[in-house]
Amino acid sequence: MAPCLLLLACAGAGPAGAQTVSATASDQEIENQISSLLARMTLAEKLGQLQQLNGTWDGDIRPEQVQRARQGLLGSVLYVRGAKRTTELQRAAMNESRLKIPILFAFDVIHGYRTIFPVPLGEAASWDPSVVERADSVAAAEASAAGVRWTFAPMVDIARDPRWGRIVEGSGEDPFLGAAMAAAAVRGFQGTNYSSPGKIVACAKHWVAYGAAEGGRDYNTTEVSERTLREIYFPPFRAAVDAGVGTAMSAFNDLDGIPCTANSFTLTDVLRKEWHFDGMVVSDWNAVKELMAHGVAADGEEAAERALAAGVDMEMVSQFYNVYGEQLVKNGKIPLATIDQAVRRVLRIKYRLGLFEHPYADKGLEDATLLTATNLTAARKLATRTFVLLKNDRETLPLNRQLKSIAVIGPLADDAQSMIGPWNGDGRKEDAVSLLAGIRAKLPAAKINYARGCDVTGDSRAGFEQAVNAAEESDFTILAVGESADMSGEAHSRSSLDLPGQQLALIQAIHATGKPYAVVLMNGRPLSIDWVATNSPAILETWFAGTQGGNAIADTLFGDADPGGKLPVTFPRSVGQVPIYYNHKNTGRPPGGDSEDFSGYIDIPWTPLYPFGYGLSYTQFKLSNLQLSARHIRPDGSVTIGVAVENTGHRAGDEVVQLYLQDVAASVTRPVKELKGFERVSLRPGESRHVEFTLAPGDLGFYDQTMRFVVEPGTFKVMVGTSSEGGLESSLEVRQ
Ligand code: BGC
Repeated sequence: MAPCLLLLACAGAGPAGAQTVSATASDQEIENQISSLLARMTLAEKLGQLQQLNGTWDGDIRPEQVQRARQGLLGSVLYVRGAKRTTELQRAAMNESRLKIPILFAFDVIHGYRTIFPVPLGEAASWDPSVVERADSVAAAEASAAGVRWTFAPMVDIARDPRWGRIVEGSGEDPFLGAAMAAAAVRGFQGTNYSSPGKIVACAKHWVAYGAAEGGRDYNTTEVSERTLREIYFPPFRAAVDAGVGTAMSAFNDLDGIPCTANSFTLTDVLRKEWHFDGMVVSDWNAVKELMAHGVAADGEEAAERALAAGVDMEMVSQFYNVYGEQLVKNGKIPLATIDQAVRRVLRIKYRLGLFEHPYADKGLEDATLLTATNLTAARKLATRTFVLLKNDRETLPLNRQLKSIAVIGPLADDAQSMIGPWNGDGRKEDAVSLLAGIRAKLPAAKINYARGCDVTGDSRAGFEQAVNAAEESDFTILAVGESADMSGEAHSRSSLDLPGQQLALIQAIHATGKPYAVVLMNGRPLSIDWVATNSPAILETWFAGTQGGNAIADTLFGDADPGGKLPVTFPRSVGQVPIYYNHKNTGRPPGGDSEDFSGYIDIPWTPLYPFGYGLSYTQFKLSNLQLSARHIRPDGSVTIGVAVENTGHRAGDEVVQLYLQDVAASVTRPVKELKGFERVSLRPGESRHVEFTLAPGDLGFYDQTMRFVVEPGTFKVMVGTSSEGGLESSLEVRQ
């Protein structure tokens, strides 16, 4: 009887279905519309809006979804994709349900939908937010044409532990670089208004500190101080919120004893009250149910209660809100107002997307949008900006196009599947260009001697002889080694950072021939490659470079593009150094200081193999003339830092100018340096450019003993370089 009464009560308010409000409607109009819809919804329909159910892995609809859509009990679906399938399920909601509220289709569009771009760690290595923005805007156009209007990206978790497989999905170890990439991703996916054609709503995940998993073991416990949360883990999320991200995802991990999916401090106090986020929070996959495994809920009812009370609006996959929601409201454990608020946030996103007006995707548009020549050209060009030249003795690279014969060796040389990396959306191996294919296309007249050599993992060296012969017979050898794409990503943590299997031995066998070679690395995390760094003549880090990866790497190896990327994460010498990151504290006995007993190791140097921010170019650059607009400022003042950068070599190339700061003596210990500005510049030979950064109080401050953000008087060291090590130095005084 109840639903009927509700219907009668609002019979004069318009048609039985939801009214459409133009996506450009004002916030107030949208809120009014939501209020009138809420007034007509039964509690079951409200709870239905809070449910997200998964389709099959390959994007098909499951029968339960159709049934719930017809009943108006399905807010969102993940994985169902493609114009045809999304339209079919949407029709069930729009034509058959009582209130005709559209379903929001979600998918992990992480580094591309069908045209796959480099993995996010690689995109961050570009140190060029426009790379991320452009890639994600192509991804958004493809996804929305396929009916997907919500992506679970960007993943903005800071990761200081490369054992953690999901380090590949984020921007690495630094909050400043991470924040810049987070904002760029939100702009790319959402544009200025995500109701616009070709735009989708983004999701900042995983809120929060998921990357701090103990031991680098995925899903593991995290213990992070509030200061470290605020200074290291929060900033990329804050940047996403400031850029207008529509949604956020609560993480799997527990944080100081409270799972992030039941954490009212992070979900409500920080996200809602401090940051004024008015979007929607979805749980991670089954994370509401997992509150029982965490041991903070005795049963499903308590799990639903804790997640709802803490501020998780939508439940992904598990169905405890729907099973226990009515009961929780009836027995007074969850106020109806809490449910209404969660539903309001879900509907707000649907209205803002313009979903009520445009619920369906168009097959014709989908066919015209996916994997176009323009998208492929963008993928190729952007990929070249993500490569990092780690070593280049005696200008081994770039290679000469006149080479008559080239050996292409290694287990990843012809691996198109790995090229598209983990979390590859609707990307297909068949679309991807392997390194071997890229080299063949680049030098059609040369003799290419391909040999796999060995597998990525395993003990066999049976292929070594053929590989050595190929190298012996060729003018130059390109060795493609690293990890296969399935060695990083979710639930794919490693205990070792060494090159897996027999790959190091393969490199050593090729090295022993005395013939020239270069190592091309493909991997989703920093690797400990001490021997290679010491002995191999050239190393190019290419991550997993996407659909056009093989062409982009060939462009770079042959000098059609300059490898101007920089490491977004520290490369350790050994896994035993982990966690190792550039913005560490000094300690009371810093390495290199006077004390005999210093903070280090007895068996290896304490320093990284390659530091954060490091990367070479085919040309050389020089920084000079570091100048500050003022020597001293007030705590609320700002200062401009200028520096000249010149290309002193003979080729055009890119340099990334990086600004670091150290608060020398403060009321709490501060990092030895913190990135506060960067700019990637392209310069012709002999060309120079003046680069400027502005430091404002937000850059100079930190959280004091009472967790207040303060700028304290004192001396700041100002460092400008082309890596987190070395560079020019000056100082700045902050005075009252
Ligand atoms: C992952 C999320 C992802 C979700 C949906 C979860 O297992 O942790 O990052 O968005 O699945 O695929």
